[in-house]
Amino acid sequence: MAEKNKKPWPTKKAMEQVYKMNLWGSNNSKFYSGDGSHQPKIVKPYIEVVTSFLKSFKSPISVLDLGCGDFNIGKHFIDFTKNYVAVDIVENLIDYNKNVFNAANLDFLCLDIAKDHLPAADCIIVRQVLQHLSNAEVQKVTEKFINYKYVILTEHLPNGDFTPNKDIISGQGIRIKKQSGINLLKAPFHLKIKGEKQLLTHTLEKNQGIITTIIYNL
Ligand SMILES: C[S@@+](CC[C@H](N)C(=O)[O-])C[C@H]1O[C@@H](n2cnc3c(N)ncnc32)[C@H](O)[C@@H]1O
Repeated sequence: MAEKNKKPWPTKKAMEQVYKMNLWGSNNSKFYSGDGSHQPKIVKPYIEVVTSFLKSFKSPISVLDLGCGDFNIGKHFIDFTKNYVAVDIVENLIDYNKNVFNAANLDFLCLDIAKDHLPAADCIIVRQVLQHLSNAEVQKVTEKFINYKYVILTEHLPNGDFTPNKDIISGQGIRIKKQSGINLLKAPFHLKIKGEKQLLTHTLEKNQGIITTIIYNL
């Protein structure tokens, strides 16, 4: 059968494979969500800006972390929230996280964020997740954003101008290989927002693109 006629793996299988085969690298722990989740120069400024946003509320808000991965980042936010629900599609990763990270206001759920009903919260955090999903799945996730006040979105994008939202098959890779990246405000997603603020941009070495974080007010 020609390659292009092959049915893509279901996203769950693809993501399980990524962790099993260490396709995003390794630091010898059981699960590794990639250098973007671990390199201090990428992670530290992100934790600072998101913490400062969470601390800006008089009474702490609730957060839903979509595609929480190995939780090297999310773990820093728990103390600044009313409650924190972290979800991922990989079941043994969620089981592992449940054993490692404990707090009275923290829950882990194994969900497919495109297919499953998502719990209520004030704020969604979705960091370097949509970049791995097909447009059909990004669309399904985006349609759910209407139920939340804030979405803090982080995406790996090409440097300079690019054509947004070229479609990919969900999995390890991202749109950068097609000189594209996610822009939820553009076709085919057309996310309706009340406001937006660029929180952070990190330029990667060797022209490997940028990692950018934006907060949408919905
Ligand atoms: C590159 S990692 C990012 C992890 C974390 N957000 C961070 O920034 O450190 C992407 C994560 O999204 C998860 N993921 C991908 N598709 C998903 C889906 N449809 N539902 C839930 N989680 C998904 C993957 O299993 C993986 O853990």
